[in-house]
Amino acid sequence: MLKNDNFLKACRREPVDCTPVWIMRQAGRYMKEYRDIRKKVDFLTMCKTPDLAAEVTLLPVDILGVDAAILFSDILIPVEAMGIGVRFTEKKGPILSNPVRSEFELNALLTPDSVKSEEMMPFIPQAIRLILQELDGRVPLIGFSGAPFTLATYMIEGETSRNFTWIKRIMYTDAALLHRLLEKITTTVIHYLNMQIKAGVHAVQLFDTWAGWLSPDDYREFALPYVEKVIKGIDKKGCPVILFANGVSGILEQMVDSGADVIGLDWRIDMVDAVRRSGNRVALQGNLDPCVLYGEPSVIRRHAKDIIDKYGKRSGHVFNLGHGILPDIPVEHAKALVDIVHEESSRQS
Ligand code: CP3
Repeated sequence: MLKNDNFLKACRREPVDCTPVWIMRQAGRYMKEYRDIRKKVDFLTMCKTPDLAAEVTLLPVDILGVDAAILFSDILIPVEAMGIGVRFTEKKGPILSNPVRSEFELNALLTPDSVKSEEMMPFIPQAIRLILQELDGRVPLIGFSGAPFTLATYMIEGETSRNFTWIKRIMYTDAALLHRLLEKITTTVIHYLNMQIKAGVHAVQLFDTWAGWLSPDDYREFALPYVEKVIKGIDKKGCPVILFANGVSGILEQMVDSGADVIGLDWRIDMVDAVRRSGNRVALQGNLDPCVLYGEPSVIRRHAKDIIDKYGKRSGHVFNLGHGILPDIPVEHAKALVDIVHEESSRQS
């Protein structure tokens, strides 16, 4: 039994006493407690050590008072299980060995089924079970995966990209190759999410971070069908599915049609516009510009209240940033945001 299920209620568009809030990348470098652990171990070791992953997952619940925890891990964990070397560097973020740019690399990829997923990534269900124990029903736990298109960008580019020239080159010269890669990723993601749901997560988020860099027509061909396939293919057991993209403005209606229960918005779309365009068919998550958290609490209040007011009295709003929290945000500002969202939304109801 959950003591605070406002997050799940909002995902299902049921009434709540105040708007639930969590923060993408809420367990991260802006927290001293995170940096202290991270001084001793590298990032991937943290992800793969259930005790550490659980400890870090709990930090924002204890320190900020957010309404949901999110499994501490990374979207590139299942990419490694597909047979690609992944390492994280301080300066450039993730670097992947042997990026997929031809039949040769594509054919070498593994698509771990449910048994293999548990064998190759046992630390995922182990961490989930530990977190659930330690949460003891305080708030729900969100599991996640990268969506197929976003995972494909990393697998093809080999690192975080500015212009996505490799994946787009393949898109316009050998679309069939890209589709075959997306199929393999989709199969992997379905088993990966099912493993998390089986271990007990209460909701799942699909991060399609880079899908907003596609034209609406290319989104329809290369991103949406695979997101739909994942959403149809997983054994949800009642878990709401959140679909996030950075740059939703040109693709919002398509995302609403994906079958997701909640659409995660970046900050470049006005909440009034998002509410109107999504036509009460899904819940909405978002969408404060992460940089607002550089401002003083009075500034944070003005901007957060604006979003809450724009969403209005209807149910189905999960407050969040429009992308991950930045590493140099003062932790007191993140804490202020959580309190402000709770205060301003209970004043409204
Ligand atoms: O939200 C959470 O708190 C849960 C944990 C989580 C992380 N990454 C931790 C992380 C989640 C859900 C992710 C998702 C993720 N990872 C995405 C999609 C969301 C997004 O932010 O767009 C992407 C694209 C990645 C890949 C990734 N991981 C990059 C590009 C980087 C480097 C950039 C950076 O912020 O350092 C990471 C590293 C990473 N993932 C860190 C954390 C806490 C920092 C690692 C460190 O301690 O050095």
